Amino acid sequence: MPSPRTIELVKATVPALQAHGLALTTHFYDRLFSNEPELKNIFNLGNQAGGQQQQALALAVLAYAQNIENPSALAPVASRIAHKHASIGIRPDHYPIVGRHLLASIREVLGEAATDEIIAAWAEAYGELADVLIAAETELYRASAAAPGGWSGWREFVVDRKVRESELITSFYLRPADGGALPPFVPGQFISIVLYIPELGVEQIRQYSLSEAPNNSYFRISVKREGQDPAGAVSNRLHDAVAVGETLAVAAVRGLLPARGA
Ligand SMILES: Cc1cc2nc3c(=O)[nH]c(=O)nc-3n(C[C@H](O)[C@H](O)[C@H](O)COP(=O)(O)OP(=O)(O)OC[C@H]3O[C@@H](n4cnc5c(N)ncnc54)[C@H](O)[C@@H]3O)c2cc1C
Ligand code: HEM
Repeated sequence: MPSPRTIELVKATVPALQAHGLALTTHFYDRLFSNEPELKNIFNLGNQAGGQQQQALALAVLAYAQNIENPSALAPVASRIAHKHASIGIRPDHYPIVGRHLLASIREVLGEAATDEIIAAWAEAYGELADVLIAAETELYRASAAAPGGWSGWREFVVDRKVRESELITSFYLRPADGGALPPFVPGQFISIVLYIPELGVEQIRQYSLSEAPNNSYFRISVKREGQDPAGAVSNRLHDAVAVGETLAVAAVRGLLPARGA
């Protein structure tokens, strides 16, 4: 638990940072992508450009920090974030990189008000949040590798069948290229797929819900063709360029299980 002084400094500066949320996230992502261009393969560039979720990471750190003295309030949120991160393959060594650019952005946004003591308090707060998420993600990676038929990282799947469900939706039946078994899953859980997108010059990762009941030999996902101008990168490439017989890299099943008894 951070010291009372750290908590006080962090909480006192959250409102100013939230008030300049757009400046904070703009500084943050500009810094991140110009200094660490390889992270463009990990972040969803459609989110960045389309203005949807691009604020999630930086603003979540602020929201999270507001509750820093009450870790139990953070547990459900941390679990959801950890599932998303684990579906993307976020590693412990990513945290200091993101932390460095986030702290620099906080300093830029606060300007002269950013004393060294305030920045040190934010560094400590970020470190606390990072430790919670790293622990949760390490456990998810361990559990998925240990599950029967499970794996960690990316596993090759063959596109066994493509079925056009409607003008916009096509289902893909994916079988493990290694012929091995698949882990059990429940409705609402999802896999991630990574595809190289030539027009962007980077890889992109997207999540797709498992759309058929669990079985031991294949996953089915049903992909809607997204966007027109520009066309959604991964969904359109799946529809138009990924043929039966090709392989796709797939990350292990993620997504919170429904609460017991629900
Ligand atoms: C847990 C989870 C489960 C999901 N399950 C499913 C599922 O079962 N089926 C399914 O179809 N989808 C599902 N999705 C959504 C899926 O992951 C993708 O987000 C979706 O396929 C769109 O990705 P894309 O790469 O095709 O589009 P993106 O390239 O991400 O584009 C998304 C939107 O942003 C716009 N955009 C992109 N770049 C720009 C730009 N430069 N300027 C302006 N606008 C831009 C595009 O026009 C488009 O409308 C799920 C998502 C999550 C998080
Ligand atoms: C304390 C640190 C962090 C917090 C609080 C945080 C928070 C979040 C939140 C709230 C989301 C959205 C989750 C959802 O959609 O359900 C998210 C998504 C994401 N995070 Fe983190 N995150 C942190 C660290 C990191 C790190 C170190 C990386 C690695 C580079 C990272 C990469 C991503 C990516 C790629 C997404 C998916 C959204 C996108 O592509 O834009 N995050 N994070």
